[in-house]
Parts: sequence; C-alpha cells; structure tokens
Amino acid sequence: MQVSSPFDPSSPQAQAILHLFVVTLIVSAVILSVVTGLVIYICIRYRSRAGEGEPRQEFGQPKLEMAWTIVPVLIVIALFVLMLDTMRVADPQSRRQADLQIIGHQWWWEVRYAQSGVITANEIHVPVGKRLLLQLESADVIHDFWVPQLGRKMDMIPGQSNYMWIEAGAPGIYSGACAEYCGAEHAWMRIRVVAEPQADFEAWQRGQMQTAPSQGQTATTPSLPATTSTPAEAPAGAQLFQQMTCRSCHAVAGTGANARVGPDLTHLASRQTLAAGRLENNPTNLARWLADPQAVKPGTYMPDLQLSDEQVRQLVAYLETLK
Ligand code: CUA
Repeated sequence: MQVSSPFDPSSPQAQAILHLFVVTLIVSAVILSVVTGLVIYICIRYRSRAGEGEPRQEFGQPKLEMAWTIVPVLIVIALFVLMLDTMRVADPQSRRQADLQIIGHQWWWEVRYAQSGVITANEIHVPVGKRLLLQLESADVIHDFWVPQLGRKMDMIPGQSNYMWIEAGAPGIYSGACAEYCGAEHAWMRIRVVAEPQADFEAWQRGQMQTAPSQGQTATTPSLPATTSTPAEAPAGAQLFQQMTCRSCHAVAGTGANARVGPDLTHLASRQTLAAGRLENNPTNLARWLADPQAVKPGTYMPDLQLSDEQVRQLVAYLETLK
C-alpha cells in the first residue's frame, strides 16, 4: 500500500499545513523568478562590449539598500505570522492526558489507548471527526511518525514525549510511515489509521478489550486449504506458543504471556497487515513469516525459531484464533 499524499489532506491540521506550504511555495517561486529574471536581464543589458572602458563606479545607494533589506524582512515576518496560525491549528497548546500513546520500535509501532487500556500494533483505529492527542515515544532509536493526510509529522525521541493532534475528517484507511531513518527495516515501518464512525470504533474497541480465547478454542477459523492449518491444530499451537520463546517477546492477554518486546498479539488476527505493513495478514503469509522471518523482513528482530512445518501450521492455527 502506498503512503498517502500530503496534498490530499483529510483533517483541519493537515489542511492548515498544506495551506502554509502552498503559500510559502508561491512566495518562494515569485522571489526566485524575480531574482533570476533580474540576474539574466542585467547580464545581457550590462555585458561588456568591445570598445567600452571601465563602467561608472557606484558607492552607496541608501534607498536601494534599505529596500532590499526591509522587503525581505517583511516577507519573513508575514510567513512567520502564517506559521503561527498553522501551529495554532496543528499543534496542541496544552499537554493534557493524551488519548493515544504511540511508541516507535525497530521496526513497528506500539499503540496504547489511554482510556480503554487497549494495546495494539501498527494499526490505529480512530473515530471520525474527533481530534485526538497523540503522545509519541520511542523504545530504542529516533523514529518519526507521519500520516500525511491527518496531521503533521513528528520525531519520536528516546526519553522524551512529543505531542501532536491527529484527526480524520472522513471514514477510510490512511497510510503512513516512519519518516526518520532508523535502521535496516526503516522502509517497512508502516502505519495505518482506520477511521470509522463512532459506533464502529466503539465496537472495535470493545472487541479489543476482550482477552484471548483460552488455549485456542474456537470454531470460527475460516476454512483453509488442506495443506495449511486446521482449527483442530489450534490447541497444540497455543501450547507451542507458551513453550517456545514466543512468550518471551509477545503478550497475549489472558494467557499469562505479557512481554512487551514485540507487538501485542491478543488480537493479531483482527489486523490487516503483518510485520508493520510488510505482508497482508492471512494464514499463508503468517506461515511464511513464522517459518523464515529474515526472508520476509531482513534484519527484523523476530528470530528464526527453526520451526518444523507442523509447528508452523499449529502456531498459525492458534494465532488465527486471536481475533
Ligand atoms: Cu522507524 Cu524509520
């Protein structure tokens, strides 16, 4: 999925930023044209011609010098005032309790909802038309959160909280990416914002607040080709998850696995992508990812556990129950 364009804003914040950009671009274009035009004109008009001696020498032109000092200062002041206006719209004035905490990790996003306590990864669900305060943090290196259609971009700095607004004017999926080089898989640190009507958002949030079905019990796994996992393999997968090192990095609410090194998997199957946007989330891709993470996302900290085909099938069956 392509990262969406900042020229197609979908929030008052992104709209204000685009407006400031366009005004600044026009002013800069006019200055560039005038200066370039004058340089070209003067080069032609006053070029040295055969038989001409030294030109008349000029010293001190107070009026001209004042003009070329004052006019640029006025332009800079005007742009500064416009920028203040944009900041008023796009930047939070007070640091009240944030609605969402987003933590950058190499190479995925941890998403925490302050009020409901929901924790998810790489996919932010938001209600349409509501301005949300984001608190941006980093768990390791400097990342940069950017969903161009919804708001400004902002660095995530270890040991420091940064704040910004995000708002979606219409339902839809808004894609974004990490915008600060942060290591091998910087390019595959995608984020997607799912904006939906308030009722749908609340239904999603209620679903996310449930703990996982115990030990992979479920009858709702979609029918799969015979070569892949069957729901019957889910309990074995749930056991494997606890026995292998999966639980050293991942949390699944209600199972005792509560590590925060990798993404929370309590509702993994409800997400649209795997590995921060690298793969569409489906059983086949999940099996690819488990079987050889480095082949899917070179450099990822997801280890290759040397799983057998059977173990991969069992784990996929289990993880598909985490809706
Ligand atoms: Cu995170 Cu680039």
